[in-house]
Amino acid sequence: MNQTNSQFENHRWSENLLMKIYKEKDHGSAYVAQRLADVISEKQKAGKKAILGMATGSTPKGVYRELIRLHRDEGLSFKNVHTFNLDEYYRMLPENVMSYNTFMKEHLFDHIDIPAENTNIINGDLELEEIENHCAEFEKKIYDLGGIDIQLLGIGRSGHIGFNEPGSATDSRTRLVNLCEITRNDAISDFNGLENVPTQAITMGVRTILDAKEIIMIAWGNKKSEIVQKTFTGEISADVPATYLLTHPKVEVILDHESSAFCNKMLPM
Ligand code: GLP
Repeated sequence: MNQTNSQFENHRWSENLLMKIYKEKDHGSAYVAQRLADVISEKQKAGKKAILGMATGSTPKGVYRELIRLHRDEGLSFKNVHTFNLDEYYRMLPENVMSYNTFMKEHLFDHIDIPAENTNIINGDLELEEIENHCAEFEKKIYDLGGIDIQLLGIGRSGHIGFNEPGSATDSRTRLVNLCEITRNDAISDFNGLENVPTQAITMGVRTILDAKEIIMIAWGNKKSEIVQKTFTGEISADVPATYLLTHPKVEVILDHESSAFCNKMLPM
């Protein structure tokens, strides 16, 4: 079932995957923020916790801006929310300006009423021998809270989700990984030179991500059009870890006109 309205087109890509193509990425971000807000409110009404999987990078910034607005102007409370972030660079002090810990505070946590103890971000400043335990505890915490209700994802130009680079196994769990060349190159401007870009990261595994009850993946702009096309028109394979999303029972993919360029040739408009 394909639907069009003035702001977006809906494409039922498969039984499990809905693709929404927005004319403006702000509208797409507002839609995603509202989906998260709905999960939070539903859980609140039922007296339950909402467990959200969070992403970093430039892609989700608009979603976080809109969540802050919903909190400020429309009274959305995050008191019942627990968050788990996808990844963190290694080795990285949590208080470093380039850390994802800092990113989340700046772009979301410092502006809403989420209790600090409910936010979970991997510590990138561990000794090598501490990592395995830390990752196991992170996984256990998600499990003990009943699993992630909704996981937000961007996509890297390498095809990574979280920092699961090409070659990542479908049953991988939270672990230390090496960053591939494309990913490190894409981070050069953030870090002021390739030599400053970390070579490793700790990331939720593919299986950790696929265990989420629902997944929303977002991609904006020309820069992502090639990898988006590869993801949704190629074989499911470790070469493009984002293709594993096609095996999940409930995924929404939020695109803009540029990132969805390949659809123009494939889908009736
Ligand atoms: C980053 C993150 C990913 C993110 C991706 C895309 O490095 N670790 O979780 O989805 O790469 O980043 P951006 O949104 O800046 O394009």
